Amino acid sequence: MSLLFCTRPARYLLLLAFASCAIQPELAVVDGPITIATWPFGRFANEQAMQAFADGRSRLDAVELGIREIERRSSDGSVGLGGRPNAAGYPQLDACIMDGPGHRAGSVAGLEGIVHPISVARLVMEKCRHVMLVGEGARWFALEHGVESVDVSIYEPQKADWQRGRRPQDPDTRGHDTITLLVRDADGHLAGGCSTSGAGGKVPGRVGDSPILGAGLYVDEEVGAAGGTGIGENIMRHCGTYLIVELMRQGMNPQAACEEAIHRMAAKDPRGYDLSVSFIALDKRGRVGAASSSQSFPFAVATSAGNQVLSVEKVTPR
Ligand code: GLY
Repeated sequence: MSLLFCTRPARYLLLLAFASCAIQPELAVVDGPITIATWPFGRFANEQAMQAFADGRSRLDAVELGIREIERRSSDGSVGLGGRPNAAGYPQLDACIMDGPGHRAGSVAGLEGIVHPISVARLVMEKCRHVMLVGEGARWFALEHGVESVDVSIYEPQKADWQRGRRPQDPDTRGHDTITLLVRDADGHLAGGCSTSGAGGKVPGRVGDSPILGAGLYVDEEVGAAGGTGIGENIMRHCGTYLIVELMRQGMNPQAACEEAIHRMAAKDPRGYDLSVSFIALDKRGRVGAASSSQSFPFAVATSAGNQVLSVEKVTPR
């Protein structure tokens, strides 16, 4: 599939060619902000991120506002407090944010009763000497900073049941769709973030790939950024996004790097291509790519020329 966006002739020309061939480097976006986000709901994140840029806000504002929109909507059922509950029946949320300049990052995992985990991840990055906070401590930190929260005492009956060994009859084990958003600002600087309730029916305390740097998200200001979605355990074991960024460093374009990472993971993994993982990537030049191991994968890309949902088919095993 190929798509043409062209609003400012010559300067803003982006030809995306997915699935069968690599993005044409000579036709990549060379100017202006660009954002790429996972899944069809990613277009709402892109919309907010591009609006932030239009309002003169920073790339971190763009990431935070874009992801907050999906946390607010909880429209896919697996981001934010309306997301998938764990096996005990209540949500525990993961998120992280990373900024290219300064290689800074912040991350939270197993966060309970906080409406916007991405904002807490950003607060960790900007206001805390650590990179990652989990569980109760992450919630205390969030509350200290006055973020929007709900009363977690409502989860007490489920926690008590779980501790007594009483398991819910039908835990919600449906799949989950993480929001991952990568941005490049008008000056060419990179940032990214992700947020999820994680796998439905996960064991309480389970942490997925999303808050783990190099697994669900990685940003390298010199090279590019990559983000993941899918079964976190399969992304974490292969440091998926770190691998993609390193492949881009070696000269691959984002599309080739996403595909190569999945081939390498499949070659090493007993599950082969049955990994249920998908990736997006954005390089320093504004080129984008996406690939998926075992299903077609829709994602959204926005430039000053428009905001569009695209899709790649699963990679062809080799
Ligand atoms: N990819 C999100 C998770 O597995 O938690």
